[in-house]
Amino acid sequence: MNKPLPLWMRPWVRITFAVVVLIFLGAAAGGLYLTQTVPEQPIQFPHNFHVGSGIPCMYCHPGAQWGPTAGLPTTQKCLGCHQQVEKRTPEIEKLLNYAANGQSIPWVPVAIQPDFVQFNHRPHVAAGVECATCHGDLTKMTVAEPQRGQNMGWCLECHQKQGPEKWERLSDCALCHY
Ligand code: HEC
Ligand code: HEC
Ligand code: HEC
Ligand code: HEC
Ligand code: HEC
Repeated sequence: MNKPLPLWMRPWVRITFAVVVLIFLGAAAGGLYLTQTVPEQPIQFPHNFHVGSGIPCMYCHPGAQWGPTAGLPTTQKCLGCHQQVEKRTPEIEKLLNYAANGQSIPWVPVAIQPDFVQFNHRPHVAAGVECATCHGDLTKMTVAEPQRGQNMGWCLECHQKQGPEKWERLSDCALCHY
């Protein structure tokens, strides 16, 4: 009598395992790819027009000076200008429809860290780090574009440049993970 093969050597077990690994890797690569492409937004919001006409970043993202999150403008804030600005284009019609239905605009986040990372805008803005250093040149973008390679090494590289006196505090694991 042949002894049955150990479970992990049976072909179907190995094939199933290989397939599962492939699916997992594919999903991981796909997820990474998706987080680095510009997502379809509900309205093709033009940063270039708005920033170019002199509206400060903080007018629409005021939270950045006070706390962790910068925040997105409400539909009401858009209307503050677009009820006056006469121009009616398909994108403006979409805005007016959301407003008429009392809905907020379902923007898709692009600047986002995993939940276990604690980022805070306030100390960065207070230290004079420009928005563009981390988010790119919005005067050349319509909707915000994801920035590549913003991993732990990226945070630490800049923190190290703040000098040896600050390095101990700025490299403490508990600064960003708690
Ligand atoms: C040191 C780098 C850095 C600087 C400087 C910075 N940001 Fe951010 N910003 C980030 C990171 C990292 C995230 C993702 C945070 C998260 O997911 O917890 C983010 C997220 C955002 C978001 C989306 C989430 C939210 O917080 O509402 C907006 C909007 C934003 N930033 C706007 C700005 C503006 C405007 C400025 C300038 C006043 C600015 N940021 C300066 C790194 C930076
Ligand atoms: C401070 C005033 C102001 C605010 C606030 C504002 N806009 Fe605008 N927006 C403008 C001006 C000015 C233009 C340029 C109009 C033109 O080209 O004649 C513009 C242009 C646009 C356009 C391009 C129109 C086209 O040519 O298709 C869109 C879309 C738009 N805004 C959407 C929004 C949305 C969505 C919000 C809220 C998140 C918003 N705006 C908030 C002033 C504002
Ligand atoms: C008139 C309002 C307005 C102004 C001015 C403006 N933004 Fe935005 N911002 C928006 C809206 C609306 C969105 C959501 C659509 C998108 O992702 O582009 C957004 C999205 C963003 C995001 C991505 C947020 C996320 O959830 O991932 C970043 C980063 C950002 N803006 C940075 C800036 C910076 C930096 C400036 C100044 C150079 C600026 N914005 C000026 C309205 C504005
Ligand atoms: C371009 C430079 C730069 C980048 C990139 C950067 N930081 Fe900072 N960070 C600073 C500066 C400057 C300070 C203020 C240092 C001080 O207190 O003098 C700071 C402070 C902080 C603080 C507050 C420190 C305190 O003592 O309260 C936290 C938290 C933080 N950073 C997290 C992050 C995270 C998380 C990332 C990456 C997602 C990041 N930073 C990326 C420059 C940067
Ligand atoms: C200045 C902020 C900052 C500090 C300090 C920091 N981290 Fe991170 N860490 C991040 C960010 C941002 C990510 C998410 C991006 C990534 O995966 O690189 C992360 C991811 C991680 C991950 C998950 C890695 C992965 O591949 O998913 C681990 C584990 C980790 N950090 C451990 C640590 C330890 C241990 C320390 C102290 C020695 C530390 N971190 C200090 C910002 C920081």
